[in-house]
Amino acid sequence: MCGIIGYSGRRQAAPILIDSLGRLEYRGYDSAGIAIFNNNTVEVYKDKGRIADLEKALPDISGTVGIGHTRWATHGRPNKVNAHPHTSGNIAVAHNGIIENYQQLREKLTQLGYIFVSETDTEVLAHLINYYYKNNLTDAVVPALKDIKGSYAIAVLCGSELVAARKDSPLVIGIGENENFIASDIPAILKYTRKMIFLEDMEIASLTPDSVLFFDSNKRQIEKQINIIDWDMEAAEKSGYEHFMLKEIHEQPRALHETFAGRISELEGTITFDSLDLTEDQIKDISRINVIACGTSLNAGLLGKYLFEQFAGIHVDVEIASEFRYVHSSPGSLVIVISQSGETADTLAALREAKSYGCKTLAITNVMGSTITREVDNVIYTRSGPEIGVAATKTFISQLGVIYLLALLFGKIKGKISSDQMKRMLVSLKQIPAQITRILGNKEFIEIYAQIFSNANDSFFIGRTFNYPIALEGALKLKEISYIHAEGYAAGELKHGPLALITKNTPVIAIATRGITYDKMVNNIKEVKAREAPVLAIADEKDIEIEKYVDGVVKVPSTEDIISPILSTVVVQLLSYYTAKARNCTIDQPRNLAKSVTVE
Ligand code: F6R
Repeated sequence: MCGIIGYSGRRQAAPILIDSLGRLEYRGYDSAGIAIFNNNTVEVYKDKGRIADLEKALPDISGTVGIGHTRWATHGRPNKVNAHPHTSGNIAVAHNGIIENYQQLREKLTQLGYIFVSETDTEVLAHLINYYYKNNLTDAVVPALKDIKGSYAIAVLCGSELVAARKDSPLVIGIGENENFIASDIPAILKYTRKMIFLEDMEIASLTPDSVLFFDSNKRQIEKQINIIDWDMEAAEKSGYEHFMLKEIHEQPRALHETFAGRISELEGTITFDSLDLTEDQIKDISRINVIACGTSLNAGLLGKYLFEQFAGIHVDVEIASEFRYVHSSPGSLVIVISQSGETADTLAALREAKSYGCKTLAITNVMGSTITREVDNVIYTRSGPEIGVAATKTFISQLGVIYLLALLFGKIKGKISSDQMKRMLVSLKQIPAQITRILGNKEFIEIYAQIFSNANDSFFIGRTFNYPIALEGALKLKEISYIHAEGYAAGELKHGPLALITKNTPVIAIATRGITYDKMVNNIKEVKAREAPVLAIADEKDIEIEKYVDGVVKVPSTEDIISPILSTVVVQLLSYYTAKARNCTIDQPRNLAKSVTVE
């Protein structure tokens, strides 16, 4: 996600803001900016590009209170106008998160005479706070936050007043000597203080150099506890997790929440993608989809095949990007490219090939402004935030989130699913972030099984129907970070060859959540057990049968069968992670691999 910093003290604010933003650089960003209270006005300096360039372009400004931001674009392209802070009169706002009702608020504020200059959702916040402002910033922030729907961590500057608030997006207050700080991430301010107060949802903080007052959402003052952070800088960058991969696995509930934000109304049974430029008639005419991707994104696409076929009755071919140019597609098909980075050379080449056939194209990606987004007809962003670990985790979960929504939307428009079905699916999808949190709460249990895996040379992940892509993904994760040979198989295919490899030395992970293929899956488990393979099952929490057939079970919360692959994903990720850790592997930088594969 984006980075926020705020400072109120007796030193010059600009160098501190720039230095703190620099400490968030490792997370990636596309633009940066600061706002400083100087000579009775709030002055803003921001631009697309690097913090070092912003620093070079800064005039000699003095001022001891200010805010700063590094942006990772979600609403609006990465450019100077869309960079934060955003202003309204003398009010400047830096914001992380997504304002879901920003369109309605934008219309309302425009009618009131406010002029919008950017494409961002954040600008509504600046105008809204300005609208409520009389003579005290906290008094204006309180009602403004009541008007907005969505997630936010904000730092707001008005004159010498500095206010912070959060909901569903992290924010911490740093307590110094004659100075206080706001930060979205501890590493940003660790150099200045180790005394931190964590804001909770709906809490507000008002900072001066000598004090920080905390309020609830109705401006009742509250007491907060100071935490002393003893992490070194490296640990702080990973929020105390041992690896970025583990941190990013834990960020999945939030990533998925952002993926869904403003796109789902489970009460009305509707799904909206602002950026989708396909009419209902065009969607009704789609009879064929080609999904093109590589690696983990390909596995997301394979799950998409099951979803589009089941929900929308659309035939889907899933193509490995590097092979696509040799298969040819018909101009009538919709081509969906999936790429977290938006830069993968094979996917880009296949996209260009598809365009040359005259296909309509749609990208699902995480990186705004990436090459793929500039070349496709439509883009849907996954909104996972920057991912640093080479192994894709939270970007995969968000890709799945988008694909579920897209398949359901197409199904609804094509009349293949009823309103009731749609509402049921959306209600279940909305519960998934909290259910992932429950799985993460039991991760120690998964770590124990990983110890068994860590001694294996070969392993199998098996699943049927929509669990098959997750078997592939589990095998990919395990091999890439732990260097254990792993095969993902459709469980029914084992007997056609690979069963010859199954011995007591080949652990098998069986994804056996409930569904129409459950009984067949149990038979496949018996097949491998008969060859003495140790079997770990991933099963529904209500399943009390499965224990009889396997050596261990990781239970996942109950949900719709077709949605359960998202939950099983988290288990295979954790299993791979802890196995790699037990083998002392360089988890965040696996050998021979790169985060963005820009060669064919
Ligand atoms: C595996 C992994 C890779 C990528 C693949 C495609 O964890 O990250 O398999 O999924 O290189 O990358 P993107 O999605 O950026 O096109």
